[in-house]
Amino acid sequence: MHIVHTIEELRKQLSPFKRPAFVPTMGNLHDGHIALVRQAKPLGDVSVSSIFVNRLQFAPHEDFESYPRTLDTDAQRLEAAGCDVLFAPREQELYPQPQTYKVHPASDLSDLLEGHFRPGFFIGVSTVVLKLFSCVYAGMPSGVAAFGKKDYQQVLVVRRMVQQFALPIDILAGETQRAEDGLALSSRNGYLSPDERLEAVQLSKALQALGQAAQASSTPDLPALEAQAMQTLARRGWKPDYLTLRRRADLLPPQGALTGETLVVLGAAKLGNTRLIDNLEV
Ligand code: PAF
Repeated sequence: MHIVHTIEELRKQLSPFKRPAFVPTMGNLHDGHIALVRQAKPLGDVSVSSIFVNRLQFAPHEDFESYPRTLDTDAQRLEAAGCDVLFAPREQELYPQPQTYKVHPASDLSDLLEGHFRPGFFIGVSTVVLKLFSCVYAGMPSGVAAFGKKDYQQVLVVRRMVQQFALPIDILAGETQRAEDGLALSSRNGYLSPDERLEAVQLSKALQALGQAAQASSTPDLPALEAQAMQTLARRGWKPDYLTLRRRADLLPPQGALTGETLVVLGAAKLGNTRLIDNLEV
């Protein structure tokens, strides 16, 4: 595996190829990232990953400074998974000047849920993803990029950006990988204390219960069921931002009877100082 730190070196490594299979990450890799690398690799002619903790998608009070940076172990895991090129730019390389040109994904999709609770988050994500795409795919006839479904809304926002900018990139959405108890794998799980780690699975349990309760009737009282799910977590000491049932296609609330809709329950809640998100397609 070649480890490159500049856009020039990256493009040189990729120049013999026509269809990169790319997995952008912020590092501190877990089995979910590795599964994406393995899944995407056969769909392209060269496997590329990036590791870049993107300041633009963190609010000032969030964990940009403390986000775990584990380049050496990450590189070993990527190499073992068959990654051919690892792009690990320094901040100065990707943002040599303040990034004043940004992608503003203005739509309901990017303003609700994560966009509502983390204003500016999808501007930061879309901007860096477009920039990484430009580093990896410039001059390529086509490509594939893989994102994990744990960040469900992020996958939809990126997919819409790719459509609207007519980028020749197929977006692959990889299934969420879970620990044995059901907790969705996330780089932020490492922030949890041992007690919090035991409690953390309750988020996916609450989502499961909400999904089942909503499906028990074709016209459920969704606001009541969602409020109840949030109260259940709050009583256990969580600070929930949302637990909600949405349409998979646009993450808007389902209208009328649920029959025939493909749905997803999504949740975000803080346990101690750690904000966790998860979702389940129902
Ligand atoms: O999901 C992530 O790790 C990040 O949001 C991404 C897509 C690498 C952009 O920084």
